[in-house]
Amino acid sequence: MSTHRTYTIIGGTSGIGLSLARKLIERGDHVFLGGRSPERLATTLTTLGDRASGRTVEITDKTSLRDFFAEAPILSGLFTPAASYQTGSFTDGDITTSEDLFKAKFWGQYWAVHAALPRLAPNASVLLMSGAASVRPIGAPAYAACNSALEGLARGLAIELNPIRVNCLSPGTTDSDLWRNRPQETREPAYEYWSKLCLVQRPATVDEQAHAALFLLDNTNMTGSTLFSDGGYSLR
Ligand SMILES: NC(=O)c1ccc[n+]([C@@H]2O[C@H](COP(=O)([O-])OP(=O)(O)OC[C@H]3O[C@@H](n4cnc5c(N)ncnc54)[C@H](OP(=O)(O)O)[C@@H]3O)[C@@H](O)[C@H]2O)c1
Repeated sequence: MSTHRTYTIIGGTSGIGLSLARKLIERGDHVFLGGRSPERLATTLTTLGDRASGRTVEITDKTSLRDFFAEAPILSGLFTPAASYQTGSFTDGDITTSEDLFKAKFWGQYWAVHAALPRLAPNASVLLMSGAASVRPIGAPAYAACNSALEGLARGLAIELNPIRVNCLSPGTTDSDLWRNRPQETREPAYEYWSKLCLVQRPATVDEQAHAALFLLDNTNMTGSTLFSDGGYSLR
C-alpha cells in the first residue's frame, strides 16, 4: 500500500501554485496538478519529475472538474489558485467585471471543492485563494466582494466539512506570471503603486506565498482562517 501524501493544486503549473508544488515535492510529497494548457502541464510535469502527475482541467467547468478528480488519488490537501478574470469599475456596468469574475474565481473554487469531496482524506486540508482587496479595495468593487465571499466560504466550509480543515490565503500583489504576462507598461506602475501602499514596499515573491500556503495546509490548528500574506497592505 502506498504511504505517500498527495496534494492537488488546480493552477499548479505556474506562479504560486507551482512554487507550492516544488516545496511539496522537495519534502517528499506527491502532487496531482491541474491547469488548462496541455503544453504547460506537460512541461511542468517533466520539470517536476516522477512525484508529479496531473491532468488538464477548466476550473469553471463542472464536467471538467469531475473528470479531473476521477483520475486523482486520495488527497491530503487541495489548493485552488486557478482563476482567469478581468476587474473593472461598477459604473462601467460591464458584465465581465461582475458576474464573470464571480464565475471564474468564486464559483470555480466552490465547485472544485465539491468535486474533490470523494477524494479528500478524512483529515485533509483545503486551501482557497482570495486576495487582500477583500478588506482594502482600491476600486473594482466586484473583485473586493468576490474575495470577501471566498473568505466567508472558507469559514462556512470549515464548519460543514469538519474534521477536514478549510482556510483561505489572501495575498497582495505578487510577482507571479499573472503579472509577468501583462505588458511592462501595466506591470511596472502597478508594482510601484503597490510598493507605496504596503509596509514592505515591494510585491511579494511566489516563494513567500507558497510558504504561507504550506503553513495553512500543514498546521492542524488552522481552520476557518484567512491569512493575509500582503506585506502589511491591509493595515494601512
Ligand atoms: N499575483 C498576484 O498579484 C495576486 C494577488 C492577489 C490574489 N491573487 C490570486 O492568485 C491566483 C493566481 O495565482 P498566480 O498569481 O500564481 O497566477 P499565475 O502565475 O497566472 O498562475 C495561474 C495558474 O492557474 C491556471 N489557471 C488559470 N485559469 C484557469 C482555469 N480557468 N482553469 C484551470 N486552471 C487555470 C494557470 O494555468 P493555465 O493558464 O494553463 O490554465 C496557472 O497554472 C488568482 O486567484 C488571483 O486572484 C494573485
